[in-house]
Parts: sequence; C-alpha cells; structure tokens
Amino acid sequence: MLSKELAPGRLAGADFLGTRVVAYRRADGSPIVLEAYCAHLGADLSVGELQGDEVQCAFHHFRYTGGRSTWVPGGCAIPEAARVFRYPAVDALGMIWAFNGAEPLFEPQPARAAAEAR
Ligand code: FES
Repeated sequence: MLSKELAPGRLAGADFLGTRVVAYRRADGSPIVLEAYCAHLGADLSVGELQGDEVQCAFHHFRYTGGRSTWVPGGCAIPEAARVFRYPAVDALGMIWAFNGAEPLFEPQPARAAAEAR
C-alpha cells in the first residue's frame, strides 16, 4: 500500500497474503496493520471506525490495537480469545510495509538500501 493512500483518521482494508488486513495511522502518524477479521463474529474491521488509536468493530463495538481487545461493550470482562494479530509495520520510502510474522527478521529492503547508501 502506498503511504499516501493511508490518510490520517481513515481505515484502509486490503487483501494481504491470502487474508485481509485493516491499516490505519495512530495519532503520532505511525502505521498499524491488523488482521481485519474481528475476533467476536468475524466482521471486517475495515468497515468499522477509529476511536483514537483503536479500531472499533462496526457490529458490536469491540475495540482493538492489536493483540487482546482493549474494550467490549456493556462493561463485560474482555474475553482472552478476543484478539486480532498485529503485523509489525513501518512507513518507509512512500510505502507501508508489513512483516508476515510476530517479529520482523529484517528491515524492508528499500529502507535497508537507503540506510546503506548513507
Ligand atoms: S463482530 Fe466485531 S464486535 Fe461483534
């Protein structure tokens, strides 16, 4: 995804490696890339809305920033299984890069090439 396509305050859904992700920017501008399927009933989080740095599901309003849900309605305890995966992501050289794993094993190739050129 191009960096300029990820406007502040907006959610962007995208197909990614055979699944779907939702991307957005935190208040500080850094990108977040989450699996797009809500842990509750599987709704596409890209049709939800941003609440500060959290994405809120359109259906029953579970909120996420990656990992365990941060909020569920009705004052209920947050279920342990209410989790969505967060892909490590960076904004570099005009692109949003997401690593397919829990920890990036290397920098995005263009970012590394730019760093080596300095
Ligand atoms: S489907 Fe997302 S909160 Fe219910």
